[in-house]
Amino acid sequence: MLATITSAALQGIDAELVHVEVNAGEAGEPKLILVGLPDAAVKESDDRVFSALSNSGFKAPRTRTTINLAPGNLRKEGPIYDLPIALGILAATRQLIADDLNDWLIAGELSLSGATRPVRGALAMARLARTLGKRGLLLPGISAEEAAMVEGIAVHRVDSLDRAKRFLAGEIELPPLPLTRRVAGPVNSDGVDFDEIKGQHALRRAVEVAVAGNHNLLMIGPPGSGKSMVAKRIASIMPAATPEETLEILSIHSAAGRTISGEMNGETRPFRAPHHTVSDVALLGGGSIPGPGEISLAHHGILFLDELPEFKRSALEVLRQPLEDGHVTISRSAGKITLPCAFMLVAAMNPCPCGYLGDARHECRCSPTQIQRYRARISGPLLDRIDLHIEAPALTMTDLRSTTPGEASAPLRHRIQAARTWQLQRFAGTRITSNARMTHAQIRRHCGIDSTLGDLLQHAMEQLSLSARAYDRILKVSRTIADLAGSERIQQSHLLEAIQYRSLDRTVFY
Ligand SMILES: Nc1ncnc2c1ncn2[C@@H]1O[C@H](COP(=O)(O)OP(=O)(O)O)[C@@H](O)[C@H]1O
Ligand SMILES: [Mg+2]
Repeated sequence: MLATITSAALQGIDAELVHVEVNAGEAGEPKLILVGLPDAAVKESDDRVFSALSNSGFKAPRTRTTINLAPGNLRKEGPIYDLPIALGILAATRQLIADDLNDWLIAGELSLSGATRPVRGALAMARLARTLGKRGLLLPGISAEEAAMVEGIAVHRVDSLDRAKRFLAGEIELPPLPLTRRVAGPVNSDGVDFDEIKGQHALRRAVEVAVAGNHNLLMIGPPGSGKSMVAKRIASIMPAATPEETLEILSIHSAAGRTISGEMNGETRPFRAPHHTVSDVALLGGGSIPGPGEISLAHHGILFLDELPEFKRSALEVLRQPLEDGHVTISRSAGKITLPCAFMLVAAMNPCPCGYLGDARHECRCSPTQIQRYRARISGPLLDRIDLHIEAPALTMTDLRSTTPGEASAPLRHRIQAARTWQLQRFAGTRITSNARMTHAQIRRHCGIDSTLGDLLQHAMEQLSLSARAYDRILKVSRTIADLAGSERIQQSHLLEAIQYRSLDRTVFY
């Protein structure tokens, strides 16, 4: 007899419909034949399913059973079809009688005992089930809780094959989970705080502006000036994510399996700091099981690249397009997938290979050619996309010996949150939530400057030989500085500060 169960396949961060067709009672040896582009993990299902069936008190098939995962051209990845396959076998062998099997979208891995195990991508599956107009989903523990964040679809948590079968057969009640509304909680910054940072007033200010408007930031300074220290503390001042942002962040981390492994609780904006030896695939996404890379895991949060020139040139070049677009397209054997990656870039670098150029207390031993080669690793077009460049000078003795703590993270975060709230109101009804993401039209609308300021900006652009791209970016940063000051209009001091963050384009790089 033939039975069909509805399940899904994860494609990037979206799920697509998969039918698990089970045909039992064919002549031949008692074994499972699995067809329909399964990967190795799916192929191992038969052992788990046989064992789970018998350990749950059901009869394993005594004849040849064919399982087809349709459509055949869609790659099926990961051990997510154990539960649908086992339920399909029960239905095909009449151990489960239910006439509304296809009202449910079902996924889950099975242990040998018949207990369910969570799967990647539950959020995407819930969205798919809602689109398909299904009655609900049957999912294992944590996956069910994750899916319950999606409104408008019932999610039933099934802890074992036996309970799933009895629920479908109408033998037990399993009330749907209440809708989980996750709100951004206090940020987890490992207990570090900005008050530990001495001096570096200009750097602090640049960080405040960058985080407030979601602008990219590059810190340049000698070793030991506190660049890495500052970056680690940025998590403690990030503004709260909106509910929609939270859902998008979680969808990505759910698809990467990071929510079920407990690495990500999804209540804060992500802060990702890949090492400079990171592979292009790990950075951008892709791989044999195509999943989100670091840039997507940093979506709506921060990607911190410490020692920027140490990264492979190829890795830095491929960052350019995603930085601009906020999404990345990954090619794979079965077509392309597009993943969101609207991150804020924070980068740090030394001014030269030895690090001491411009440091009064250390002699720089680099030759002009070495310095030039080092800086040339950061290409002009990449630099163009970094809105704020800030020098972090070596700490002075006075700063080092000072015992007065710097300003703490809490008031800093408070100001940033206020500026971001202003932005949320400005962009209400649009898809963007920060100044950095303004389109050209939005810049014209929200960053108007009078002709005096226009002349000033033009003069600065000529003096610093800035690109046309830098023009828009300076206006966006001016907008954020005005927001921090609570000013409706961009004023001269706001514009001047924003221009000053571009001055390194020329003094350091050309
Ligand atoms: N501004 C600062 N305030 C307090 N301590 C600092 C500061 N800058 C550097 N330090 C000390 O020096 C160490 C190295 O700083 P780090 O952030 O790694 O420098 P960088 O990344 O610029 O090379 C820190 O762990 C801290 O102990
Ligand atoms: Mg460092």
